[in-house]
Amino acid sequence: MHVKIYGESGGIVLELPLTKPTGKVRVKRRTKNFGVPVATRREALLEKDYVEWQISYATEEASETAVESVRLSDGRIGFELAKILCEAKRLGILRERDFKEMKEFAKSVRDKTIEEKEEIVRIRVGEEVAGGFVRFEEKVPVFVKEADKYFIEIVLRHKQKAVGFQSMVYLCIWLKNMENSEGNPPIGRPARRNEHVKFKITDGNIIKDVVKAFAIASRKHNQDISEIVEQVLEKC
Ligand code: ADE
Repeated sequence: MHVKIYGESGGIVLELPLTKPTGKVRVKRRTKNFGVPVATRREALLEKDYVEWQISYATEEASETAVESVRLSDGRIGFELAKILCEAKRLGILRERDFKEMKEFAKSVRDKTIEEKEEIVRIRVGEEVAGGFVRFEEKVPVFVKEADKYFIEIVLRHKQKAVGFQSMVYLCIWLKNMENSEGNPPIGRPARRNEHVKFKITDGNIIKDVVKAFAIASRKHNQDISEIVEQVLEKC
């Protein structure tokens, strides 16, 4: 169910599952700028398919993917993005100036985050249909940053168990840029049972983009990610 993250010569490897549609990693198909879930074991995978990862940066539990030396003030330990940052520092994929850039970016956007500035609204469009029902459309803010091999989405939603809005951050990687255990992208056929694919991070931009996404997503994420960036620079 979880994502494996490890550093090796020349890059950081992410190992993502293709067949866990209820987890934090899902395969989706780009259709009119929208991501439609794909039944990967039944349908052939296509060039326009990608893995959508709801990446996190902290956890309560120790694990292979946790970074115990990185701690938030509430006691949570670094996870996933923290591990990637830590490996990137060790491998020289991120240098001191990159950490400075991330910290300064976070500081510069702290008072204008999406969660605090944006909202979901419903707009009446057109007339009554049948039975006295009127058509409305919902406008949901979505922020997308596109790069060659990946894109990042920040999606606003209503909080599940409280009042207000919550920004969700997703790192999305095109399947055509990933490799299965035989070294090929899983395209043109359905996924195999429990198939995983690898993506190698070889430069710092993808990492800096995910950090920046959390920084603009909400004040809380901004503060947490700033602490993590600071501590990785000191401790990794
Ligand atoms: N909390 C942990 N991971 C998150 C993510 N990817 N987006 C929003 N909130 C989160």
